[in-house]
Amino acid sequence: MVKIPNTFGLTVTAKRLIKWPSQQALFKPDESFIIVGAGSNLLFVDAEFDGQLIQLEQDEFIIEQTASDYLVTLGAGLNWHQTVKRLIDAGIDGLENLALIPGTVGAAPVQNIGAYGVEFSQLCESVTGYNLQTQQVETLNNQQCQFAYRESVFKKQLKDKFIITQVTLRLTKNWQANLSYGPLAELNNPTAIQIFEQVCLIRQSKLPDPAKLPNAGSFFKNPVVEASVFNQLIKQDPNIPNYPQADGKVKLAAGYLIDKAGLKGAVYQNAKVHQQQALVLVNQGGSCGVEIANLAAMVRQTVLALFKVKLNPEVRFIGKQGEVDSAQFLDLLIAENKK
Ligand code: EPU
Repeated sequence: MVKIPNTFGLTVTAKRLIKWPSQQALFKPDESFIIVGAGSNLLFVDAEFDGQLIQLEQDEFIIEQTASDYLVTLGAGLNWHQTVKRLIDAGIDGLENLALIPGTVGAAPVQNIGAYGVEFSQLCESVTGYNLQTQQVETLNNQQCQFAYRESVFKKQLKDKFIITQVTLRLTKNWQANLSYGPLAELNNPTAIQIFEQVCLIRQSKLPDPAKLPNAGSFFKNPVVEASVFNQLIKQDPNIPNYPQADGKVKLAAGYLIDKAGLKGAVYQNAKVHQQQALVLVNQGGSCGVEIANLAAMVRQTVLALFKVKLNPEVRFIGKQGEVDSAQFLDLLIAENKK
């Protein structure tokens, strides 16, 4: 038995640990497995995972260049934030808006991490890994990764079939600041280091540090609704933040909906909706995964009743046998709690 790291501070075990690639020979393909870096986007809803825990050892940091770009190849086991800092310190800009995101480099493409106007997909050249079906090392180009908002092929067709070992980024030498996110717009002609520092400040002021108050960042995805649904909502609340999408749909701020539903600071046993950012659920100490899921179920149900919008988790739910459908899991809890 081995403990699985996770930023929700949950005590959870797996059957055995496999360090990849040095212990690859111990891997049993017919047994379930989970790849965990920091466990910063996972909610374990059982106290044990009945399978193998894979931890990646790759820590390459290779910088190549063309006339116009840096091509940076990074091992999946590297810590994301340290890597962002290392690149900026080396004068290679482009990741500054993604500072302080918890987790590893290998986890970044899986959920296409994003913050402050930049998404991983905009900088990704390719993702390399071991395909368990073909038993080959394969490289997927940006398009093959099928990136979308907090989505990728690694959560869909390649789920449980691909072990990401390396990521290659393409960072232009003709760097330009991305100040599209409101609170960054006040910076005047900033350097990448200044943006990096500002992003760290904003995150530290709103988002709780998982080392002090266990959490997994945004718990829910921002919902994307049909224009017709949005037209009703704006009548109900003219101040509702909205981000029109290229396909005519409208992205809403889940944090705003949760906040307006009066749920900031709401608790379920030891789990709490964070006071500074309603999109974050925290473990105040001693919570088990189901307590956090119960709080999430309450949030989903209350927001649905008030705004007719369903919030779906960004955090992935892991049960004894492996990943479970998080929305279905919450609906089951809602049904049970009604009894
Ligand atoms: N808002 C409230 N009350 C709240 C929280 C937010 O009214 O309690 C409002 C804000 O005032 C703002 C809007 O909702 O008008 C959006 O809030 P914010 O700018 O804080 O961003 P977010 O949509 O809540 C997303 C990402 C974050 C990322 C920030 C900044 C998702 C699910 N979350 O949050 O990513 O850091 O934008 O770009 O897309 C994460 O994924 O773990 C994460 C932290």
